[in-house]
Amino acid sequence: SGGGHALRDGGFSFEGPFGTFDQGQLQRGYKVYREVCSACHSMNLMHFRTLAEPGGPFFDAHQANPAENRFVKALAKEIQVPDIDTETGEPVMRDATPADRFPNPYPNATAAAAANGGAAPPDLSVMAKARHGGANYIYSLLTGYHAPPAELTIRPGQNYNVYMAGDLTPFWKGDAAHVPAGGFIAMPNPLRAGQVTYDDGTEASVDQMSKDVAAYIAWASDPKQVQRKQAGVGVMIFLLLFAGITYMSYRRIWKGVA
Ligand code: HEM
Repeated sequence: SGGGHALRDGGFSFEGPFGTFDQGQLQRGYKVYREVCSACHSMNLMHFRTLAEPGGPFFDAHQANPAENRFVKALAKEIQVPDIDTETGEPVMRDATPADRFPNPYPNATAAAAANGGAAPPDLSVMAKARHGGANYIYSLLTGYHAPPAELTIRPGQNYNVYMAGDLTPFWKGDAAHVPAGGFIAMPNPLRAGQVTYDDGTEASVDQMSKDVAAYIAWASDPKQVQRKQAGVGVMIFLLLFAGITYMSYRRIWKGVA
């Protein structure tokens, strides 16, 4: 009865104790978020300057101050954010700067739900932490819009997804022993092949865009994870050397003592 499929494996570079983010993939993933997902999903914990921090999609050692990073200045400028005109006190829209938060696509949760058949699109800031399977789950979900079996009654405003959690038993007219895996999701399949044009020439297949945006969300969910891992590796090396030195001095101090 229901339940999701085993997740697909995105083969992500950042997995494992020595893994690091692939900066080109993060840049592509940001583009997918910006041009597709941000129409419905907020990322409230993100500021534009975060994109230029060490390990981030637009970090550049030659322009180490994230607030001065020219890539981020340029891509922030493309986005309009709400503000208050200091002279008139009226609400206005203006170009974003690196100091701004990512703007929310809807004014509030009620409007977000109303625009999406009652299900508000969740904030994606920490989505890779919020769902079991992290980046592999997001990758799987985005590539999991399979054609529904004929015996499945799709609820209005819902879409069938092989990786969505749920129990399809009440909607299944087929063999009770073979209820399909997956569930219903209010999000329509957001990706079509070629939907974004990658700056690095990578072909924008649905599989590629899904993987890239999943990597980008994994980075955003924990921007310091690579630094933390590398500090951990340094600590392990130190402990090994220190254990060796301790052992050698132990041997020396007790040399010849019966
Ligand atoms: C839910 C990712 C684009 C509307 C979700 C979830 C994720 C996600 C991870 C949570 C699924 C769960 O609960 O486990 C993305 C990504 C997108 C994208 C990465 C871009 C590639 C969109 C777009 C729309 C949208 C363009 C609006 C047309 C929704 C809605 C939900 C949702 C309404 C709630 C679904 C429900 O609870 O049934 N999205 N999304 N998403 N998304 Fe998206």
